[in-house]
Amino acid sequence: MFQGLARLGGMTAYVTLEHVSKSYGDREVLAGVSLVISAGERVALMGPSGSGKSTLLNCLGGIDRFDRGVIRIGDVDLGSASGEALTRLRRKQIATVFQFFHLLPTLSVLENAAFPLLLNGIPEKEALAKGREWMERTGLTHRMTAYPDQLSGGEMQRCAIARALAAGPKLLLADEPTGNLDSSTGDKILDLLETLTREQGITLVMVTHSETATRICDRTVHMLDGKVVEPVTA
Ligand SMILES: Nc1ncnc2c1ncn2[C@@H]1O[C@H](COP(=O)(O)OP(=O)(O)OP(=O)(O)O)[C@@H](O)[C@H]1O
Ligand SMILES: [Mg+2]
Repeated sequence: MFQGLARLGGMTAYVTLEHVSKSYGDREVLAGVSLVISAGERVALMGPSGSGKSTLLNCLGGIDRFDRGVIRIGDVDLGSASGEALTRLRRKQIATVFQFFHLLPTLSVLENAAFPLLLNGIPEKEALAKGREWMERTGLTHRMTAYPDQLSGGEMQRCAIARALAAGPKLLLADEPTGNLDSSTGDKILDLLETLTREQGITLVMVTHSETATRICDRTVHMLDGKVVEPVTA
């Protein structure tokens, strides 16, 4: 019962990984990852290309299956939860933003943001009203009737963030959210991610190659060859 809410030094654990492993064929890409993330914490995930960062994020998001170990998010045990419980978790509690935005090209900016709410069964009018609130929060009100191919990279990521957060998730997974943006646009996106996750009490796990991006995080976790490692110090 509520194992994921175990108290840890006064903090509430929201995401727990215990000895998580995953292989592709005979190649182990996650090799026993253990990690505890508190509710509302912002964690940066760094490491060389191929070290397993995206795989780990995809396992947390319920997109990839893992072979061994335990992942708990809140009170849901991902390894033993039913398909229905996993779908509910993915739709209601977890949201993801990616390096290449993944917006739906045939929907306007506002419709993109409101779309997950429709999937959650919220009536269209209400979904669009909520979407508009998120246009404001992400600074996109003046662009909400545009289509993704008419947007700048920064605007596309703002739209992806609005879409991710409109449904009120508790966990935001971000895979190199500034990886395709110039540094000043990326900086503004980082500020936005920090403000919104702080305001809404959202737990953030952000994969990044940029040391400067870690400034919005409480802690950095380093990965190497599928494992969490101590950072290499000079
Ligand atoms: N579907 C797949 N089939 C086979 N191997 C895969 C698959 N997806 C990922 N891998 C392998 O798993 C390893 C970890 O990949 P992952 O994408 O998690 O790395 P990453 O740390 O996110 O790297 P990057 O910084 O380049 O994005 C890599 O060696 C990759 O080639
Ligand atoms: Mg990756």
